[in-house]
Amino acid sequence: MSVIDIDAVQKTAEEEIAGADSSASLEELQNKYLGRKGIVAGLTGAIPALPAEERAAFGKKVNALKNALLAAFEQRRSSGINAGVRISGAQPGMDISLPGVAQPAGSIHLITQVAEEVTGLFVKMGFSVEEGPEIESEFNNFSGLNIPLEHPSRDTFDTFYLKAPGGGTLESGDGKLLLRSHTSPMQVRVMRARKPPLAVVVPGRVYRPDAVDASHSFMFNQLEGFLVDKNVNFSHLKGVLEAFARGIFGEDIRLRFRPHFFPFTEPSVEMDVSCIICKGKGCPLCGRKGWLEILGAGMIHPNVFKNVGYDPAKYSGFAFGMGVDRIALLKYGIDDIRLLFQNDIRFLKQF
Ligand code: PHE
Repeated sequence: MSVIDIDAVQKTAEEEIAGADSSASLEELQNKYLGRKGIVAGLTGAIPALPAEERAAFGKKVNALKNALLAAFEQRRSSGINAGVRISGAQPGMDISLPGVAQPAGSIHLITQVAEEVTGLFVKMGFSVEEGPEIESEFNNFSGLNIPLEHPSRDTFDTFYLKAPGGGTLESGDGKLLLRSHTSPMQVRVMRARKPPLAVVVPGRVYRPDAVDASHSFMFNQLEGFLVDKNVNFSHLKGVLEAFARGIFGEDIRLRFRPHFFPFTEPSVEMDVSCIICKGKGCPLCGRKGWLEILGAGMIHPNVFKNVGYDPAKYSGFAFGMGVDRIALLKYGIDDIRLLFQNDIRFLKQF
């Protein structure tokens, strides 16, 4: 056995290691030389069979070979070898074949996605986008919109008032300050600030003292839209809303307008779309009605025009308001509005 030229083994091994061009081939070589049944193990196993006087020296040489090869493999790895790519600048001890640390990429919240999608449809029709403050005055939220102070219809919209530091309610020049209960106050703001023609959509958060359950929240998202010009009529409203509904729910959607009451529109309607699941046959989603309520709308009330300083004889217009969260729930088949606000990454990741 002493005829084995250990130096020659080392030389061949080092040449092979230098020639390895991928981590896979390097691993194969390491197995060949240093593996459990590898060449070095074979040499070590041969020691007991040697003449006693040769054992110590041979053992030493085998050990030196083992250490030299370990160092050669280590050096070859750290010089940057990865699937055949040599990377200059790799530092010793750096294993560039390890997977990197993944940076979780954020994504846009479902509500924002849907708000942007809906807003985009109106932008295509020529509407501009505006955002308003969530803290509003009593005038913009109520009286300017023809909702008188003591009117019962104010109850459904009644809201959170802002406390003054010394007690009582915080006031502005336009009455008490509150969290807006709908996006309609932006009708008042925009109309007061500008002259027709106007075509505006307003996405934003609104607040109501509603008990929270699967379909209600004290805070939710609306999208308001209004258009004011000369000779605007109800068929314009229908045309715009039809284009919106087809864009969001698909070409085969059908619309239904039901008479309704809002103090700031006359006539007023609620608009339903044919159920997106059963197409109108009746199913659990639509409560077997075949229709889903989507939004409120109507022709802007002459009193609103008077309140903002427009001549109702000269101008006409329409307005509509929808719940963005509700549209998101319907579109994605989500059965609980609270999921949208709990920020559970497992839920949000799906969209
Ligand atoms: N502001 C109404 C609401 O919150 C919706 C609406 C807007 C109705 C515009 C008519 C016109 O329910």
